[in-house]
Amino acid sequence: MILCIDQVISPELLGRVQATLADSVFRDGRETAGWHARTVKQNEQADGRQPEVVALREELASALQRHPLFLMAARPRRMKPLMFSRYQEGMSYGNHVDDAVMATPQGAMRTDLSFTLFLNDPDSYEGGELLIDSTAGEQTYKLPAGALILYPSSTLHRVEPVTGGERLAAVGWAQSQVRDPQQREILFDLDTTRRQEFEANGKTRTFDMLSKSLANLLRMWAEV
Ligand code: NI
Repeated sequence: MILCIDQVISPELLGRVQATLADSVFRDGRETAGWHARTVKQNEQADGRQPEVVALREELASALQRHPLFLMAARPRRMKPLMFSRYQEGMSYGNHVDDAVMATPQGAMRTDLSFTLFLNDPDSYEGGELLIDSTAGEQTYKLPAGALILYPSSTLHRVEPVTGGERLAAVGWAQSQVRDPQQREILFDLDTTRRQEFEANGKTRTFDMLSKSLANLLRMWAEV
């Protein structure tokens, strides 16, 4: 399942992220790439040792961890600290698969889900689409500032060359409590349906039974 979520952060936070990154130091993105991705990765990343960058990524991570749709779709158990990436004219990130296991300050985690939070206006740069190679073929995404795409880390994907302007994004990874993407999708569908039932009809018997099934499937599948 690939999910796009609009306005995952407030316009106020988005404005502060843009203002802070405009004054931050960026380094060559190859420093954080695996050995094979390094050959195709051409971008820049905000130096994670800057206190204002550390504070921002923590603020963004906690905004995501409060976002109901993100939580329903990802069911995160662990998250990797976000990285801010910048692509200037001529930069791109060729086809790659994200590392399956990544180091975090809390120890190693498995990457089940990758996400990109777009941070600047798509009309302000040319190219720079995120292209995901799925069983349905190749799909491209270039979302509004403040929107996030969540996709399986198991996919081959790339960032198309930026041919004008500058692309700014935050990228991150989550290990889910539910490892299997099909199980995660069933839980997402059930949760969506029970919320729709609640909004339309209140706490009905149907809502209660959907909630029970959701809870019991989660009990079968969750790793915590
Ligand atoms: Ni990637």
